[in-house]
Amino acid sequence: MCGIVGYTGREEALPILLDGMRRLEYRGYDSAGVALLSGEGIEVSRKAGPLDALVQELEGHPPSGTAGIGHTRWATHGAPTDSNAHPHSDCSGRIAVVHNGIIENHEHLRRQLERQGHRFNSETDTEVVAHLLEAKVAERSCTLREAALAVASELEGAFALVCVSSAEPDVIVAVRQDPPIIIGLTADAGFVASGIPALLPYTREVMPLDNRQVAEIRPGSARVFSFSGDKVSVDKVTVEWDEAAAERGGFEDFMLKEIFEQPDAARDTMRSRFDESGGVVLDEVHWSDETLRRITKVVVVACGTSFHSGMAAKHAIEHWTRLPVELDLASEFRYRDPVLDDRSLVVAIAQSGETADTLAALRFAKKMGASVVAVTNVVGSSITREADAVLFTHAGPEIGVAATKTFTCQLIALNLLALYLAQARASMPADKLAETIEAMQALPDQIEETLLLQDDVHRAAKRYAMATDILFIGRGVGVAVALEGALKLKEISYLHAEGYAAGELKHGAIALIEQGVPVVGIVTGQALYEKMLANIAEVRARGAETILVARRGDERVRAIANELFEVPTTKPLLSPVLDSIPLQMFAYFVAKERGLSPDKPRNLAKSVTVE
Ligand code: M6R
Repeated sequence: MCGIVGYTGREEALPILLDGMRRLEYRGYDSAGVALLSGEGIEVSRKAGPLDALVQELEGHPPSGTAGIGHTRWATHGAPTDSNAHPHSDCSGRIAVVHNGIIENHEHLRRQLERQGHRFNSETDTEVVAHLLEAKVAERSCTLREAALAVASELEGAFALVCVSSAEPDVIVAVRQDPPIIIGLTADAGFVASGIPALLPYTREVMPLDNRQVAEIRPGSARVFSFSGDKVSVDKVTVEWDEAAAERGGFEDFMLKEIFEQPDAARDTMRSRFDESGGVVLDEVHWSDETLRRITKVVVVACGTSFHSGMAAKHAIEHWTRLPVELDLASEFRYRDPVLDDRSLVVAIAQSGETADTLAALRFAKKMGASVVAVTNVVGSSITREADAVLFTHAGPEIGVAATKTFTCQLIALNLLALYLAQARASMPADKLAETIEAMQALPDQIEETLLLQDDVHRAAKRYAMATDILFIGRGVGVAVALEGALKLKEISYLHAEGYAAGELKHGAIALIEQGVPVVGIVTGQALYEKMLANIAEVRARGAETILVARRGDERVRAIANELFEVPTTKPLLSPVLDSIPLQMFAYFVAKERGLSPDKPRNLAKSVTVE
């Protein structure tokens, strides 16, 4: 949440900051602001609304300077107004700060600072940092970095802070306690950002700060210190993503581009993960077969769309490994007193690798002695540094707030993990393993075929775009697809949608059905096929109109569908990869028909770094 960018070098900083902010705007778009440092001091410009509002405001009189910081906000404390927009300044206007996170003890600190005579101009938690820095610099006659170290120890909560002072016009100081901070260097410039895409035009060698570290960045160099003040070294991580991957590339929206990137993303996620003898190789998961055989249960933790991929994976892991799988929302997991020990394997799924609740769940699981494997898309993210093993989805950067290609790649990665466990535990006959791997390898081409449904899906979206409620139903792994289809639709089209296990409808939700209510049904499963048809008959009998996802050539489903999306046939446990694609497109086209921007839905941010 919140995009942060900083630059110090020889160029005019403003265009670099605005470009970085544009690349990170998916992290928050309630307001935007910049602070530019020049020989004259600091000039702060801030504006409520999306980044374009700030750009317009600055037209004709752009602030100048060769160092500066920028911020796109996802509001926590204080409404999205000009005065609550970052950067925030101290009383003298000589210090400016941007922040991602929540400072939990801000009220107490604010009262203290007000008693000392500091004047506040916003309702944010962030502003206390600017005044605390001012107080420390005055008290100790110290550098900004020294002041930041002292301030960090007084703050409670989660904070990625980036600050500048007019007394040190080529220095940027960054502080990390939980939300990500990434540094990039070139020969004559220093960059800092809250997300990799902002750094891609300049470098692919990035230095993610660890928790409880402070960095002092100058043109071409950076020094990093622990909160206790010791100088520490930071490893460089090479990012595979190129700059073009984080551009729209001719598509109207990132979401549509990312939906169409799925065949390649799926290929990349599977690349080098099968060996010639027909087995699954996961070099990143370095546990021995013996250790994998000792596991007595698997616990999957995640939020949002990642939770839905985990829900589908539960079926595959249980079926192929015969291990019991528990599935938990990461935000609930640590509060339910779960039973874990050193024979538990926890699978933590997070596209961003930064979701606060998933990280907290991971830490809790480790404390209980469990082994943790993370499934993530972002190299160098927090989850990769804390998990015992990491399985990357190689989906490339996902900028649209709605997860699409990362969902299908998570499904693929989790299926790989399930097969890998089955292989190590010898729980799956060799011929079944080989057949399943073959089916997985066919998925990228089948995704390509599924994308050809675009026109059918667009027609259905036009027909139902103005509905007020839509139900999504499925059975087996289809429940995860139904929940994900409903989430996708509600988050970008603001249309009320509910995902349900079809067999549960009769226990309440069927009361919502009346003449003309659209019901999306996933009817690709084989085991519960007849039961699913019966559930569809029940809603049709009560007036529902049906939008059905079915296997290609299924005439029985065709006969009961008002709109039909026919997907290629695969193994039932793999079918969520294909079934979810028309539903992603459906959500996209409904949002467009309703005149909404699918990439930046209201109230949301791509990466949820607060609890
Ligand atoms: O980065 P994560 O996978 O942990 O993110 C979890 C959710 O915030 C995310 O999936 C969210 O639900 C998406 N907006 C869904 O499209």
